[in-house]
Amino acid sequence: MKVNILKDYEEMSLATSQLIIEVMKENPDGLYCFAGGDTPVKTLQLLVEAHQKKIIDLTKAYYIELDEWVGLKQDNTGSCLSYLNRNLFAPAAVPQSHIHHFDSLSSHLDEECQKANEYIEKHGSLTLVLLGIGENGHLGFNEPGVDFDNKAHVISLSSTTQSVGQKYFQEEMVLKEGITLGIRQLMESEVMVVIANGVKKQNAVRKILQGEVTHMCPVTIINEHKNSYLFIDELAGGQNENFN
Ligand code: GLP
Repeated sequence: MKVNILKDYEEMSLATSQLIIEVMKENPDGLYCFAGGDTPVKTLQLLVEAHQKKIIDLTKAYYIELDEWVGLKQDNTGSCLSYLNRNLFAPAAVPQSHIHHFDSLSSHLDEECQKANEYIEKHGSLTLVLLGIGENGHLGFNEPGVDFDNKAHVISLSSTTQSVGQKYFQEEMVLKEGITLGIRQLMESEVMVVIANGVKKQNAVRKILQGEVTHMCPVTIINEHKNSYLFIDELAGGQNENFN
């Protein structure tokens, strides 16, 4: 794992986008997986700018959704798909045929998981995954305690994720379950990039940097990836004596 500690959110996003741009130049038609959430917003904006300047061509790449809230309409602005449409797919005019996403309203979620697994298998593997970290150390919706051998699966959301997740919605939501790619698939990616900024991510970042891999903090698995990068800002990398 290569650790990059940047001054602030802007610098973290710039450095992250530069790495992704280099990978996309080499693998323009690869399969990419970008997390939703607040953390990657600026990175995605910089990728779209690079696309507009013709440094990369985002329409050539393929994409698979990392995770989604179960039971949510796709046009809900808090859905992960809506986020990706807003921040990446629409501004870069990515063809729908290049995007695979979960139908989290399906009454056959097991089939949705199977379809995601098959999409990745069809492409060989994920070229690059860009992941944020949940406050409890989750990756996608791989919550503490998750089986690291899982492929795509449905999972009960922890109380932390249920309450933190409210920030994406205009009104109070019931967020009980998520559907997510599994750690195994993320670990088989050619490049794994994890980004984190701000004090709320200090605990998870500290556990990563301690080097011990634990199911109780799924993001620590990054330590075992063959080609992984951690981009954090100084706040996320700071020490805080109150953590245990
Ligand atoms: C969310 C998503 C993750 C995301 C993480 C961090 O719940 N399931 O995919 O990376 O939590 O989100 P944020 O960047 O808003 O802190």
